[in-house]
Amino acid sequence: EAIDLQGKAILPGFLDMHVHLRQPGFEAKETIETGTAAAARGGFTTVACMPNTRPVIDSPELIGYIYETTAKEGSCTVLPYGAITKGELGEELTDIAALKAAGAIGITDDGVGVQSSSMMREAMRIAASLDLPVVIHSEDEDLAKDGCMNEGVVSKRLGLPGIPGLAESVMIARDILLAEETGAHLHVCHISDAWSVDLVRYAKSRGLKVTAEVTPHHLLLTEEIIDRTDAQDANMKVNPPIRTEKDRQACLRGLLDGTIDMVATDHAPHTEEEKKRPFQTAPFGFVGLEIAFPLLYTELVETGQIALHELVKKFTINPANVFKIDRGVIAVGNVADLTIVDLEAERTVTVEEFKTKGRNTPFLGKKIKGWSVLTINQGRITYRGN
Ligand code: NCD
Ligand code: ZN
Ligand code: ZN
Ligand code: ZN
Repeated sequence: EAIDLQGKAILPGFLDMHVHLRQPGFEAKETIETGTAAAARGGFTTVACMPNTRPVIDSPELIGYIYETTAKEGSCTVLPYGAITKGELGEELTDIAALKAAGAIGITDDGVGVQSSSMMREAMRIAASLDLPVVIHSEDEDLAKDGCMNEGVVSKRLGLPGIPGLAESVMIARDILLAEETGAHLHVCHISDAWSVDLVRYAKSRGLKVTAEVTPHHLLLTEEIIDRTDAQDANMKVNPPIRTEKDRQACLRGLLDGTIDMVATDHAPHTEEEKKRPFQTAPFGFVGLEIAFPLLYTELVETGQIALHELVKKFTINPANVFKIDRGVIAVGNVADLTIVDLEAERTVTVEEFKTKGRNTPFLGKKIKGWSVLTINQGRITYRGN
C-alpha cells in the first residue's frame, strides 16, 4: 500500500520523558494501552512513565510489570521510573540498585517531592554510584500548602490559596547543591518559574550534571486562564501551576538558550468526574501527548520564535542524549522509530479524537497544525491518521 508523503516532514519518533500512564491502580484515568495509543497519535515512539500509581512503582517486580504489560498492549516503547521512596511516602528509600537492575531509567519523587534533605542526599549518593538520573518534582510542601493555583495577582483577585514559585525554586536550589556534592545527575521536571530557570542556568554554568524539561502548557499559557470563567474550571488546574507572563517568557528563553534541554508533556489524565469537582478539590493535571508537538509547532515555529529543527531536537535527540537512550535520530543502523508530520493541515483539538481516556486539557477547541499522520515504532506502524 502506497503512502503519499507529499508535503510531509519525516522526523525521528518523539520521546516524552514525563507521562503518567496510571496503570496499575488508576485504570479509570488511563491504561498503558490507551496512554501509549495517545502517545503514538502524538508522534511519540518512546515515553517514560511515572511511578505514582497504586501500588507505587517502587520494586523490581513493578518495573517488570510495566515492561510486560507494554509488550502485550503498548503502542510505543515505555521506560519506567522507579520511586525514590517506598510508596512515595518519603519515609524509606527504595532499593535503587534493584530498580536499576530491573530496567528503571531513573528514580523520581514526581507528584510529591522528597521533603527530607538527608533522604534526598542519600538517594543521590546511591544514584550517582549507579549512574542513574534523579528526576525531581521540586515542591516544598510547607510553602505549597493547600494551594490550588499560582500565588499572585490572580489568586488574590479570586481569593484562592496560591502555590508560590518559590515552593519550586527553593527545592531546585537545594537539589542542585546536593547534586554537586554527590555527583548525581539531576533532572528537573516541569520547570515553571523564572527563578528555577536561572538556577538551572547557573548549575550548567558550573558544569554540573543538571538537566531540565518544560511542558507545552508552561510555555504557552499564563495564570490568567483561571480567570476566564466565573466558576473556575478544573481543566485549568495543574501542578506546578501555570504562572505569570514573566515566568512563561523565562521558560521560553531557557528553552531557546539550551538551559532547558527538552519538552515533556507531564501527560496527567484524570476522569471527567474528578475534574468536575470544585476547583480547590479537583486533582491537578493536563493530558498532553496528542497535542504537544502541534501546539508548539503552531505557537512557536509558525510565529518564528523557534526553528523547526530546534523544536524537533527538544522532542528527540536531546531527551535521548540526556537519558542515554539509543533513539532520537534517523541514521543507518538505527531502529525505525519515525513520525511523519503534516505541517500544513489545521485541525481542531476535540476530545472525540482523543485516544487518551483523559479530557482534561485547557487547549480544547484550539486550531493547530503539525499533526502526525503516521507513527512507526521499532518498524511497526503504531498510528495512522489523515
Ligand atoms: C501529576 C499527576 O496527576 O500525577 N499532576 C500534575 O498536575 N502534574 C503529578 C505531577 O506531575 O506532579
Ligand atoms: Zn510533578
Ligand atoms: Zn515566579
Ligand atoms: Zn508528573
